Amino acid sequence: MRAAVLRGPKDVVLEERPRPRPGPGEVLVRVLSVGVCGSDTHYYDHGRIGRFVVEAPLILGHEASGDVAELGPGVTGLAVGQRVSIEPGVPDLTCQHCLAGRYNLCPDMRFLATPPVDGAFAEYVAVHAAFAHPVPGSIGDDAAALLEPLSVGVWACRKGRVTAGSRVLVTGAGPIGLVCVQTAIAFGATEVVVSDVNPSRLALAQELGATAVVDVRESSVTTLDRPPEVLLECSGHPPAIGEAIRVLGRAGRAVLVGMGGDEIPLPLSVLQEREIELTGTFRYANTWPTAIGLVASGRVDLDRLVTGTYRLEEAEQALTAGRRDDRAVKVVVRPTT
Ligand SMILES: NC(=O)c1ccc[n+]([C@@H]2O[C@H](COP(=O)([O-])OP(=O)(O)OC[C@H]3O[C@@H](n4cnc5c(N)ncnc54)[C@H](O)[C@@H]3O)[C@@H](O)[C@H]2O)c1
Ligand SMILES: [Zn+2]
Repeated sequence: MRAAVLRGPKDVVLEERPRPRPGPGEVLVRVLSVGVCGSDTHYYDHGRIGRFVVEAPLILGHEASGDVAELGPGVTGLAVGQRVSIEPGVPDLTCQHCLAGRYNLCPDMRFLATPPVDGAFAEYVAVHAAFAHPVPGSIGDDAAALLEPLSVGVWACRKGRVTAGSRVLVTGAGPIGLVCVQTAIAFGATEVVVSDVNPSRLALAQELGATAVVDVRESSVTTLDRPPEVLLECSGHPPAIGEAIRVLGRAGRAVLVGMGGDEIPLPLSVLQEREIELTGTFRYANTWPTAIGLVASGRVDLDRLVTGTYRLEEAEQALTAGRRDDRAVKVVVRPTT
């Protein structure tokens, strides 16, 4: 099969690789669409993310959909030809966190496109059958791939307990902020304010249902009329984080999704006096059923986020699209179509 392989920083080549064989309990998926994530771009630029270092050639891409091409031994729940959305992280399913249902915190997670596990910028990928989620015909191939970032938004809204009537502030209108906006509205939020420094992203946020937008180059979230109840922080920019926590109301909830500086100043007196709950999020657990329902019912539009499509041999252009065009939001690679 053909695969786009990262050999080192800024070095992606198309290679012939043996087609993976699905092991027991696995299926082989023919890849139809793969979203490019900020982490793919980061590996491409720097060859590492924190303690994860690309020491051997690595296939990037973890936001993927496809159709089942082959069943491994023992697989009964899926059929050849079934279209699926791939949940890229497979936990060990035996540790205390897995047994408690928070499998995103499994210390033995194997995650696509995280060294040393190859990802989906390839014609085929073998995945655990229970993590290949069947999708209905109403969800297109690109949207099926983007159920992965949508899952980040679903998890953030769950952690922030967004519900009917919630007033929410989303800082950062990148792909993650934009799925948070849509999910918050689908969960019943009646006020969703979005901040960013990129006017085209703010315009898209508004199209997708944000009730107000703040361009922080000209204004500030501190000028909001009423304090929000929930902060979904999706910029990862330390100054934005501190400021957004300061505008939260009493008993507010701050959900830190964006990954920024390792250590940042936090307004401790605000957290204490207002009894603000602060949590990080790490990916998601058990979000695909919700994400599939949200897209199939039309409550969330993922196709609207797609600003470019590339073939596998153009993977490098896909990885650098964001820096060439500030109107780019989410680009996808289609390895087999
Ligand atoms: N916690 C998780 O499991 C998880 C999963 C996926 C992504 N992430 C993180 O979520 C963040 C968002 O991901 P993305 O793909 O949307 O990234 P992105 O870089 O496309 O989006 C970040 C947005 O923040 C905006 N921004 C910059 N400064 C700002 C400011 N001062 N105030 C408001 N907005 C500002 C940028 O213009 C950009 O649109 C990243 O930090 C990413 O690492 C976390
Ligand atoms: Zn585990």
